[in-house]
Amino acid sequence: MKKVYIETYGCQMNVNDTEVVFSILASHGYERTEDISSADVIMANTCSIRDNAEQRIWGRVDYFNTFRKSRSGLVVGILGCMAERLKDALLDTRKVDVVAGPDAYRNLPALLEAVSEGHPQMDVELSREETYGDISPVRIDKNGVSAFISIMRGCNNVCSYCVVPYTRGAERSRDPHTIVREACDCVAAGYKEVTLLGQNVDSYRFEDVDFAKLLAMVADVSPQLRVRFSTSHPKDISDAVIETMASRPNICHQIHLPVQSGNNRILEKMRRRYTREWYLGRVAKIRSVMPDCGISTDAIVGFCSETEEEFRDTLSIFEEVGYDSAFMFNYSERPGTLAARNYPDDVPAEEKTRRLNELIELQNRLSLESNRRDVGKVFEVLVEGPSKRNETDLCGRTGSGKMCVWPDTKHRAGDYVLVRVEDCSSATLLCSLAEK
Ligand code: SAH
Ligand code: SF4
Ligand code: F3S
Repeated sequence: MKKVYIETYGCQMNVNDTEVVFSILASHGYERTEDISSADVIMANTCSIRDNAEQRIWGRVDYFNTFRKSRSGLVVGILGCMAERLKDALLDTRKVDVVAGPDAYRNLPALLEAVSEGHPQMDVELSREETYGDISPVRIDKNGVSAFISIMRGCNNVCSYCVVPYTRGAERSRDPHTIVREACDCVAAGYKEVTLLGQNVDSYRFEDVDFAKLLAMVADVSPQLRVRFSTSHPKDISDAVIETMASRPNICHQIHLPVQSGNNRILEKMRRRYTREWYLGRVAKIRSVMPDCGISTDAIVGFCSETEEEFRDTLSIFEEVGYDSAFMFNYSERPGTLAARNYPDDVPAEEKTRRLNELIELQNRLSLESNRRDVGKVFEVLVEGPSKRNETDLCGRTGSGKMCVWPDTKHRAGDYVLVRVEDCSSATLLCSLAEK
């Protein structure tokens, strides 16, 4: 059996894609290894979202090539978004033998077979239908408690800064019956939590099943199975989705609702297709139905022509919403996107970083304030395993997505326990076991 080693970069969908790739390769006589030095095939499943993501992968490609000296016949492959974006440019470096885009994974065994005869191979065909719906992913996360399920692929939104529509192709939704079957498989394998993945889950539709219906179908698989999802799009998240979340106790009250900017001129230029006022209206609706709902976000600072005053609108929307957590980024121009073609990347790098630091500092305070509001409360958490810092502590998340840590030698991964919040940092709730 040939041994395959894969490193995964980028979003959760890429993690799940790697699981699909392992499943496809396993049925063609390949075996997974976590030891790079014994691998016959070394691959990276890559991300193109920002320039620094790609730079990091170039560094890994050089590193992978150092193994050629000690292993003749070694195959180096690039999968995922960077494969799709750069295509032959990757083969031209002569450091890469196989290039396979996100919709080409069924062809990977054939590509690997052909390359072993000495010819570099590439398949970057995008598909309108491929969802890998029939493939049972080989789970690579170690805790055995939570699993990712991709419910759709691609994206039709064409936000002006974003490379995803080019690297992942057109949006398509997966047959809900295959999704429910995968959730059942997860339960049978002992998993306690599934996260439904899509770039914009709110635009999921397969025949008469929309995302609200799908959520209910997955939640009804087992009351012991927690259901999460990501990512919601502010322009599309419907009242039906919010009400379905409230109607099933096992759907976690957590919404990742990327705002990107708090300024209407910038939102328009980003082609997000909502306004600050619309966004705040959605947040108000979520909170009126689920006052305990965790809300997190993504934001970009220093987008083309963003002024200091416009950046202040992002600070103020963060303050107004009071996010529980956020991912924040400097704008990174991506070749071929609408923004790269039409607007100069004119906010200086130092200025972007200054704005980013200010936003991060604000979010640290907001996260701390949000956590402080939970001190004294009792939550049901799903144990993920021992905490990273201390072997005699366990960790797990609240329904709203906050990480809890508490001393515990009785329970183990996969148990549901009640914990009381005693103290907190901006990142963690420090808890004790509460009586059931
Ligand atoms: N589909 C999701 C986002 C996927 S990309 C959505 O629509 O919200 C994850 C995050 O990366 C985005 O929310 C955005 O904040 C950030 N991002 C995307 N393109 C970027 C770019 N060119 N520069 C900086 N950050 C970017
Ligand atoms: Fe990119 Fe916008 Fe699609 Fe999200 S919704 S993946 S930001 S184009
Ligand atoms: Fe990156 Fe592709 Fe995901 S660009 S964020 S790996 S969809």
